Amino acid sequence: MRVLVDRRDGLTAVADACASGVFERGEKAEAFPRALAREDEAARGLLKAAWEKKEVRGKRKEVTVLHRPDGRGRVVLIGLGPRESFQAETVRRAAAEVVKGLKGRGVRTVAFRLSAFVADSVTSEAAARAIADGAILGGYEFLKYKTTTEGGVEEATVHLGEEHGREESVLKKSVSEEADLADTVVWTRDIANLPADTATPERLAEEARGLAKELGLKVTVFDEKKLAEMRCGGLLAVGGGSSHPPRLIVLEYPGGSKRGRTVAVVGKGITFDSGGISIKPALNMSQMKFDKSGAVAVLGILRAAATFKVPPRVIGVLCAAENLPGGAAYRPGDVVRSFNGKTIEVLNTDAEGRVVLSDGLGYVVQQYHPDEVIDLATLTGAQVTALGDDTAGLVATDERLAQGLLAASAATGEPIWRMPLTDYHRELVKSDVADVRNSTELPPAGMLTAAAFLETFVGKTPWAHLDIAGPAYTTSSTRKYQPAYQNAGATAFGVRLVARYLMDLGRS
Ligand code: BES
Ligand code: ZN
Ligand code: ZN
Repeated sequence: MRVLVDRRDGLTAVADACASGVFERGEKAEAFPRALAREDEAARGLLKAAWEKKEVRGKRKEVTVLHRPDGRGRVVLIGLGPRESFQAETVRRAAAEVVKGLKGRGVRTVAFRLSAFVADSVTSEAAARAIADGAILGGYEFLKYKTTTEGGVEEATVHLGEEHGREESVLKKSVSEEADLADTVVWTRDIANLPADTATPERLAEEARGLAKELGLKVTVFDEKKLAEMRCGGLLAVGGGSSHPPRLIVLEYPGGSKRGRTVAVVGKGITFDSGGISIKPALNMSQMKFDKSGAVAVLGILRAAATFKVPPRVIGVLCAAENLPGGAAYRPGDVVRSFNGKTIEVLNTDAEGRVVLSDGLGYVVQQYHPDEVIDLATLTGAQVTALGDDTAGLVATDERLAQGLLAASAATGEPIWRMPLTDYHRELVKSDVADVRNSTELPPAGMLTAAAFLETFVGKTPWAHLDIAGPAYTTSSTRKYQPAYQNAGATAFGVRLVARYLMDLGRS
């Protein structure tokens, strides 16, 4: 999807469709909104007629398509819901609804009338960015394995018109930046959606090498031999049952400012999580190809960091392994030595994410002495139970880092919710035979005992943990409740969030 900015009014431009937002009408029979006069003119009164018949109500997700009697494409109305709750996120979703609603109708180009998406609560800049996001992410589909496809919208243009024409240079810059970020999300989704036969740990290493070459980053890949020398017992144990051996992948972006901080971003990269010997039930096991989403998000975050030349130095770490049962698989009862020397009692081979992350966290802390560490992991079913499919769990040991991520969450519309980490959780992961155990006999607070486990390998470095088990991907049953810019499969959750955090770090 290309996203452009044009000074002209959307209704005078040549596009297959011109889209405008419409607020939800009240209970009383409201008069036709003056803001839609130009749209109605283009539709020669048909819009007003539809309004009067209450076919246009402005409810969210409501898409109205009218053909212009002059033959110059379509007038499209997208419901924005109540004016009181209008936000940039409303526009992001609305733009995605437009692109989706027009699919299969032979529409290739869409003009968005910017003035119809701006209000007191949403500036022209925020609206223009949100249109770019919504159009690109909403138009995304994973088509690699489809032999036939139905074409959709290929080009979206933000039209400034008289109202915003003077802001052209600022808005062009903002839209092009936002489109580049959304393109990185698309790039990330394409990797996260690959099935496990293709997206092996070595394939993730290949992707990292390709990215490093393209953007001039430093990349180091530790294979199973090197991991044995380094004593990365976690990755070797979890990857032991697979014929695709584990990899620890490290990417380095040097940073845009000299005195900048060093931020380490670590991702769980389980290319397939069968549960191992503690095998999972068959139902929905196919979803576990998305268990690499944290690591793939790290690739996207490094791509964004280098593209936008963010101020801090960023170290990306992917902990990649496949968790399968077999004669060489690790088993419940095993004791594993992690990179930093701490020992882990394995009680459940399905709690493998924290075991691979122990090596990656220990390594990056020892090797790079980062100022802060952020990890992303599809770590626990407990996260999904606690917060659902849309909101990631945040556990942070540092106030500034937590506030920075919460601010980035508000700006990007990627929801996160902070959860507590206390001595209660730390107590629960103590082991009788080793330093820590990877699972507890008590089910409660599974997201937080997992975090307490990870903390052991981060130590005192300021740290934020994002459990993205729910929001990392959608399924046919959860998708209909998700924003329209989240499509089938991987969402690449965390890329826009952490990229925004890094872009703003040291700038304010
Ligand atoms: N990959 C799963 C967590 C998961 C669940 C991700 C649902 C996405 C959707 C993880 O490795 C796992 O199996 N965790 C166990 C831990 C338990 C055995 C302590 C869980 O959450 O049940
Ligand atoms: Zn598991
Ligand atoms: Zn897992």
